[in-house]
Amino acid sequence: MTTPAVIVDAAAYAQAVEDAVRAAAAYYDGGTSPLDDDTYDRLVRGIAVWEAEHPDGILPDSPSGKVAGGAVGGDVPHTVPMLSLDNVFSAEEFTAWTASLARRTGRESTRFSVGPKLDGLAIAARYSEGRLSRLITRGDGTAGEDVSHAIGTVEGLPERLAEPVTLEVRGEVLMTSAQFEHANEVRTGHGGQPFANPRNAAAGTLRARERAYTVPMTFFGYGLLPLPGTDGDLADRMREMAHSDLMALAADLGVHTSARTAVPDTVAGTPEEVLARVKEIAALRAELPFGIDGIVVKADLAADREAAGSGTRAPRWAIAYKLPAVEKITRLLEVEWNVGRTGIIAPRGVLEPVVIDGSTITYATLHNPADITRRDLRLGDHVMVHRAGDVIPRIEAPVAHLRTGEEQPIVFPAQCPRCGSDIDTGEERWRCAQGRNCHLVASLAYAAGRDQLDIEGLGATRVVQLVDAGLVTDLADLFTLGREQLLALERMGGTSTDNLLAAISRAKEQPLSRVLCALGVRGTGRSMSRRIARHFATMDRIRAADAEAMQQVDGIGSEKAPSIVAEMAELAPLIDKLAAAGVNMTEPGATPPPAADAASDDPAEVLAAGGPLEGMAVVVTGAMTGSLEKLSRNEMNELVERAGGRSSSSVSRRTTLVVAGEGAGSKRAKAEQLGVRLVTPDEFAEMVGELLG
Ligand code: IVH
Repeated sequence: MTTPAVIVDAAAYAQAVEDAVRAAAAYYDGGTSPLDDDTYDRLVRGIAVWEAEHPDGILPDSPSGKVAGGAVGGDVPHTVPMLSLDNVFSAEEFTAWTASLARRTGRESTRFSVGPKLDGLAIAARYSEGRLSRLITRGDGTAGEDVSHAIGTVEGLPERLAEPVTLEVRGEVLMTSAQFEHANEVRTGHGGQPFANPRNAAAGTLRARERAYTVPMTFFGYGLLPLPGTDGDLADRMREMAHSDLMALAADLGVHTSARTAVPDTVAGTPEEVLARVKEIAALRAELPFGIDGIVVKADLAADREAAGSGTRAPRWAIAYKLPAVEKITRLLEVEWNVGRTGIIAPRGVLEPVVIDGSTITYATLHNPADITRRDLRLGDHVMVHRAGDVIPRIEAPVAHLRTGEEQPIVFPAQCPRCGSDIDTGEERWRCAQGRNCHLVASLAYAAGRDQLDIEGLGATRVVQLVDAGLVTDLADLFTLGREQLLALERMGGTSTDNLLAAISRAKEQPLSRVLCALGVRGTGRSMSRRIARHFATMDRIRAADAEAMQQVDGIGSEKAPSIVAEMAELAPLIDKLAAAGVNMTEPGATPPPAADAASDDPAEVLAAGGPLEGMAVVVTGAMTGSLEKLSRNEMNELVERAGGRSSSSVSRRTTLVVAGEGAGSKRAKAEQLGVRLVTPDEFAEMVGELLG
């Protein structure tokens, strides 16, 4: 929960009110607030604390007492005020709210509608006889600005409804992550400054007139109300409808709502059910393609809403259960360039440390040089950093209006920062001309890792020794190491040497999928390596595959196929050397594909035939227990595939089974929501019984 800012005296209070009003006005207006949401919330809570203790000193401007928190109005009056929402930050605060709602409605139990609180801008869309006639911003809540020029650029707000009805749809306009990336690319491409985050981008885009370009946004409806011209019967019916029925009507009319997302509005019968749903939505947040900053809980029944009524600022029949902020503004201090095991040179942003949802963030991914250019990032910039769930933090964009002019361009390396070789800049991701030889230590340590060749005793330190001594210049050299060579190394006794040689010898017997993975083919990880190996069955067939044949592998599209084929060609000498050293080049249990002309694209045929999981798409999540306890995630996935199933890391409608161990979070929630079959590790162990051990 947000801790309130500490306000010590009247002067600090006045300053806090001024800051909050300025930030709120910017937020509702054009979205260039100098405060991130978390800081704003803390300030407003601090103001509320001070006001509770000094009720006589409350300033008229205070955001606590105003409709929509001090935003600038427009000249189109709203028929019914567009209110804001009160917030709760914990289960306790939520329960207290349900108690006060029960007091007002006079009934103990009520029905709630629970849905995502979309992080965009409120908008009213007026439909006249089914035609979209006017778009109005919230403004100060009583009157907003006409932004009808944006009609046609907001997906989900049809220009014609399915029925010729007159009514107002209210909802949130936002940009999805993809729309935001696109908007910033187009904007900086036209010489403009990037938007700091999707919300600002939607705000700026909505209000902009006469721009040389248009960028799409998305609408989510969350309210439906009659207008003066609405047919009397319909208006009466609408006033009596449950919120959930109104939303169903909106969807039937063709308006986009949360219904078709991973977090649709649902109805809950008790506060406990609401809290369970809050947890589920929170767990799904990181994966959503649009921003949410909380969960909105509403009394679903019209009678309850009427009985609860509204205050001047917010209705009493709804509440926003706020989630921790996932965005903070901090500064970009430096950009580091790291060379990975395949020679890819990847930039990483070094940040002024910032705490987001309890973790201190000091680094953020930056993908590639083109990405930096596209987003017009500079050293010293204030940047919006985003971190949700376990996902690696990312820099969303610079906060351009906080620039001082002191920011410096980010210098791209001219030579490989690791070995000084030339850089291949032919693709978006830059690569050292030495390729995987540049960072041989990283590439060998990866190959020897548990999920690849599983060579016990060959950790990074040992690899460094071997490389420094000149004993190993590529992966294949490992398999021709002699006992005397190893014994000559420091800290290598007879026993460790024999153990290492035995582990290397065992590694020669690993299945093709693991050998392929150990090679570190760009664009293929563990699961893709398994799919390729199962599909082709032998290394020779993989090497003989052209892009078209490669595309027959499940999950390889027209973009990836040629790059894998090129990589295989690049790796040919190394593969020959490995084969000559006696490394296994076949996949046990796999049958090669039929001749190209008989190839089928029926996914059922791609899955291994036979086995207890035949035809099933399986996701493993959480910690394994019982007889599966010792298996790594990779070994679990291998087991799934040996049993005839297909392993996947994300839950979708196509998933047929989710193995949920201890601590399973968002994937379990998604499976429950989609109605996918869930089993415990023990149940799963029974299903695949004969293949275990
Ligand atoms: S219902 C009377 N439902 O959050 C207000 N609002 O912070 C009824 N918002 O002004 C609003 N998602 O702009 C509602 N599912 C949702 C929402 C939502 C986002 C916005 C809305 C509101 C603001 C309050």
